[in-house]
Amino acid sequence: MDVMLPRLRPAPLLDRFGRVEAFVGQWAREPRSVGAVCPSGAHLARRMAAMLPPGDGLVVELGAGTGAVTGALLACVPPERLLVLERLPAFCHLLRSRFPDLNVIRGDAARLADYLPANRPVAAIVSSLPLLSLPAPLQTAIVQQMRAATAHEGCIIQFTYALWGRSPLSRAGCRCEKRDLVLCNLPPAKVERFRNA
Ligand SMILES: C[S@@+](CC[C@H](N)C(=O)[O-])C[C@H]1O[C@@H](n2cnc3c(N)ncnc32)[C@H](O)[C@@H]1O
Repeated sequence: MDVMLPRLRPAPLLDRFGRVEAFVGQWAREPRSVGAVCPSGAHLARRMAAMLPPGDGLVVELGAGTGAVTGALLACVPPERLLVLERLPAFCHLLRSRFPDLNVIRGDAARLADYLPANRPVAAIVSSLPLLSLPAPLQTAIVQQMRAATAHEGCIIQFTYALWGRSPLSRAGCRCEKRDLVLCNLPPAKVERFRNA
């Protein structure tokens, strides 16, 4: 006789637990560069994706981690329009198995120009990088790279858990043209969209 056992945890939930576990593990090894104890929430990810400008240019995601924001971006743009950059090998592995059609590059955002295709303007950079917790020289190098990559009418979408105070992007001369508070996230977050002033 076949006995149908109930599934105690549905597969998507199991996947999510696995991703949280992987994230916490990486955070314990490198707290400053991972910058958060748990992945971005689905609500925050959707609000970042909602800031994408219209058009069909390249979208570059920086610091994709376990892919919460990546998933929300893929609901808005096809995989061939999205380039994902992540520094940690374990996260790259996870991203590639979760999104097999996606161009996931293991690399450092401070060398962003090295990974961008020639003659393809960047419409938007979507960044989960913990800019405020990175060492100052690295932060400066990354901000310079972001500005250079979006010099031709691109924008930069950045989230932060610092609800008050100026972003390193505005301190570097970028103009904030849109701001959104996402209280429904743990912890609450701020999403900003910048242009080269
Ligand atoms: C706040 S976590 C990303 C959270 C992600 N949205 C998620 O839900 O998993 C920041 C990510 O930026 C990555 N990161 C930090 N410094 C980086 C750098 N210089 N270049 C590329 N990625 C970097 C970290 O490895 C980490 O995955």
